[in-house]
Amino acid sequence: MEKLIYLDNAATAWPKPESVYDFALDFYRKTGVNPGRSGFDMAIEAGNIVEDLRRRLTRFFGGDETHPERLCFGYNATDALNLIIYGLVGQGDHVVTTNLEHNSVIRPVNHMVRDFGAEATYVRFNAQGYIDPEDVKKAIKSNTKLVMINHGSNVLGTVQPLKEIGAICKDKGILFGTDTSQTAGVVPINMQEMNIDVLAFTGHKSLMGFTGIGGLCVRKHVEIKQTRSGGTGVRSAYPYHLEEYPFRMEYGTPNMVGVASLYAGQDWISKQGLQNIHHQEMKLAKRLIDGFRNIDRVEIYGCDVLENHLSTITMNILGMEAGDVGIMLDVDYSIATRTGLHCAPLVHDQIGIIKIHGGVRFSIGAFNTEEDVDAAIAAVAEIAKRVKK
Ligand code: ALA
Repeated sequence: MEKLIYLDNAATAWPKPESVYDFALDFYRKTGVNPGRSGFDMAIEAGNIVEDLRRRLTRFFGGDETHPERLCFGYNATDALNLIIYGLVGQGDHVVTTNLEHNSVIRPVNHMVRDFGAEATYVRFNAQGYIDPEDVKKAIKSNTKLVMINHGSNVLGTVQPLKEIGAICKDKGILFGTDTSQTAGVVPINMQEMNIDVLAFTGHKSLMGFTGIGGLCVRKHVEIKQTRSGGTGVRSAYPYHLEEYPFRMEYGTPNMVGVASLYAGQDWISKQGLQNIHHQEMKLAKRLIDGFRNIDRVEIYGCDVLENHLSTITMNILGMEAGDVGIMLDVDYSIATRTGLHCAPLVHDQIGIIKIHGGVRFSIGAFNTEEDVDAAIAAVAEIAKRVKK
């Protein structure tokens, strides 16, 4: 079989580092019992890795290190964002968010508006794909409860100025939340320095864990209303869900193989150095963009400025449907990309590519090479020649 060139790392990082597979599977084989429920040694050991990971991730995100219990695990960023949005916003509250959001924010916010009497404003991004903090400021109203911003766009790859937006929110006394699905593991994040009150993360992208693990980090002054309830492993006679963190945001048996993978992912990132990983990915991204710019009919979105950017590039070949280009890349060249609206339809709407059914996204990861990028450029050049004149 022809070697697959995987350029869909924004959907999930693949492959993971060998050390992550090895550690997670070994841990699960030897210690894969339910943590926090029982008192035997193995259960305590399983519980220890969960608590250790809470401390590590709290430090990693610049949360309140004396409150690691406020780093709570769930399935993924969507799960965390549902807990955050449903738990912070109520009837009559206004949310400021952006056209860069993923459906994991758009849909819960829209449900709050349609079903629970909240209000929302979607701030537009500028021509380069960035949110202007002044536009966020202008959108804030007297009833604004939450500003929710995607740190890195999964379509345009642009990284938003969280620190500036956080300063505005702090000044106005409004809660500030961010979705770090695309940035955690490649762009430094510091909740305290950026005035972020609550952050959602997913484990399976640049944090290098497996799918099915993610969560939220909540600063010590923020209280999120509980919207779910269930087993916590402690105080079983109490008839309601526990209010204290992490139980407040955790329900049922955790994903232990996911926890172990994320633990090993943290080790791998600190060994490589987050900045080095990002630098290497951006070098390849620039090579890809430069290559695409030399091909007639290729239109690239949001890549004018590469300074605050991820290695995620969306383009189209004018005269072709995005989906057709993706199929040709896959079938004829064994190149895996993601086409369509990428669960972020407002981005495509604002840049005017909804009518051609979105774009073709190339997302470079830590294990891609110059050869992968050159093969993608050559494939796109050949496919562009097939456009009927
Ligand atoms: N949110 C993921 C993506 O952008 C799945 O592809």
